[in-house]
Amino acid sequence: MIAAPAAPAPRCDRTQAWGALAGHFEAHGRDFDLREAFARDPGRAADFSLQAPEVFADLSKNRIDIATRRFLVDLALECELPARRDAMFAGDIVNTTEGRAVLHTALRRPGTDGPHGEAVHQVLSRMLAFAEQVRDTASSGIHDVVHIGIGGSDLGPQMVLPALQPWLHPGLRLHFVSNVDGHDIAPVLSRLDARHTLFVIASKTFTTQETLANAQAARAWFLAQGGTDIARHFVATTTHTERAAAFGIRETFGFWDWVGGRYSLWSAIGLPVALAVGAERFRELLAGAHAMDEHFRQAPLAVNLPVQLGLLDLWYRNFHGFGSRCVAPYHQGLRRLPAYLQQLEMESNGKSVDASGERLPFGTSPVVWGEPGTNGQHAFFQMLHQGTDVIPVEFILVRRAHHAGLPAGDYARCLDEQHRLLLSNALAQAQALMQGRTADEARHDAAPTASPDLDPEVLARHRRFEGNRPSTLLLLESLTPRSLGALLALQEHRVFTSGALWGINSFDQWGVELGKALCNALLPRWETGDTAGLDSSTAALLERLR
Ligand code: F6P
Repeated sequence: MIAAPAAPAPRCDRTQAWGALAGHFEAHGRDFDLREAFARDPGRAADFSLQAPEVFADLSKNRIDIATRRFLVDLALECELPARRDAMFAGDIVNTTEGRAVLHTALRRPGTDGPHGEAVHQVLSRMLAFAEQVRDTASSGIHDVVHIGIGGSDLGPQMVLPALQPWLHPGLRLHFVSNVDGHDIAPVLSRLDARHTLFVIASKTFTTQETLANAQAARAWFLAQGGTDIARHFVATTTHTERAAAFGIRETFGFWDWVGGRYSLWSAIGLPVALAVGAERFRELLAGAHAMDEHFRQAPLAVNLPVQLGLLDLWYRNFHGFGSRCVAPYHQGLRRLPAYLQQLEMESNGKSVDASGERLPFGTSPVVWGEPGTNGQHAFFQMLHQGTDVIPVEFILVRRAHHAGLPAGDYARCLDEQHRLLLSNALAQAQALMQGRTADEARHDAAPTASPDLDPEVLARHRRFEGNRPSTLLLLESLTPRSLGALLALQEHRVFTSGALWGINSFDQWGVELGKALCNALLPRWETGDTAGLDSSTAALLERLR
């Protein structure tokens, strides 16, 4: 018999606070003007700034006032956010469709107390010891590591490594292969020597088509190169050690079904990070994330940064109707962060039914996208400033640059100056988004590249910026394993917050299944040419491709 589930916490749209927010939106939200808000209140920046572990946040350039924040906190309370959060940390079955606990936070608890503490630390110690052995390249003989995985088994480590560039092992090159497209793996392997290469096959399920195809290609290449000792050159990170063993892998670092793929960086899936930066730095990454976990668990909701970001996401999505958020990290080391956050948020909250399966009458995950600054400024920022859609931007800044081992001199001064340029650009973009430029200002500002034949009135209309476009600024003092850990945990918990209020299961991903099944059904048709039952488009394309 199936036990009756505990009464679910109220969904956001079924609360009194939701009604209050709707009223507040009509009265003060729809026409909220950031410029007026700043002019009215000189204390606005201070009122809407928050300090969380390692991350300072300026939320003041968002379309919120004190009342918005109060109503949003009321909403969180009515939706029982603290109880839901505590249930996740306690190991309750939060992922109801898969009947699983959600305990990635247990992976970064420093002690062995708490759920699964012994098991977590046992694998962690073994994995870190292995990483240190490999990092001793003189005795391990390993100079290249090829990490094969996809999605949550790839994006985390791939994003972290460039961020931690100053700490990377100088004699150990890390390569990432994810795409089933052979054009991903082939150029990587073409540069390597099998005798000095270690393969890490990373897959929670050890059934993912792309990863298994790449792992088989890697094994074939290894053997063709004269490699003999698969057990020494292939290791796996997975929850299914027996499947890895069937592949011929003996050294496996396990994790558990209560770690979601997109939350698995902190588990054995982080092995490439440990290989690249070493055990101590990996522990610092975990410590930073743990500090943010504690903030999320303990800080009052009004000053709880992940909660405030999640509430803002909901405010923009459900009341302002913004369907997208741009992530703009102003640090080249964070260049893969937008892709990582895309999976984190869109796979978690890209759902259209609530936990009980009822269709939702409101929007959920926004489209999350972005590129590092200043590159994005020369690509899509035009649309952010003058396009027809309002897209909130999340700027991520790092106060201090870190160029390891640089002797003082002109070169160091140039790089220092470049950092000031970088930060000034970020501040200027946020200013421009908010302030805009009136047609009158445009009329008076010089425009040397404008056509002299154009009516100045028409030109002013082209050069006008609407402004009032919101942005958030997250600031790290410096980019370190610890601050990066905190930043990533912050993002996880903001996704949890909006997902919890929307009443959805943020921890399953049924939406990726159908394409996988259809792909498997198409594969045999390449041999037979059978197109029976296919729509005419797919049938014609298959014939053309064969
Ligand atoms: O894209 C679906 C997904 O299941 C992700 O959630 C996961 O991170 C990825 O595939 C890889 O899965 P695995 O780690 O099992 O190979």
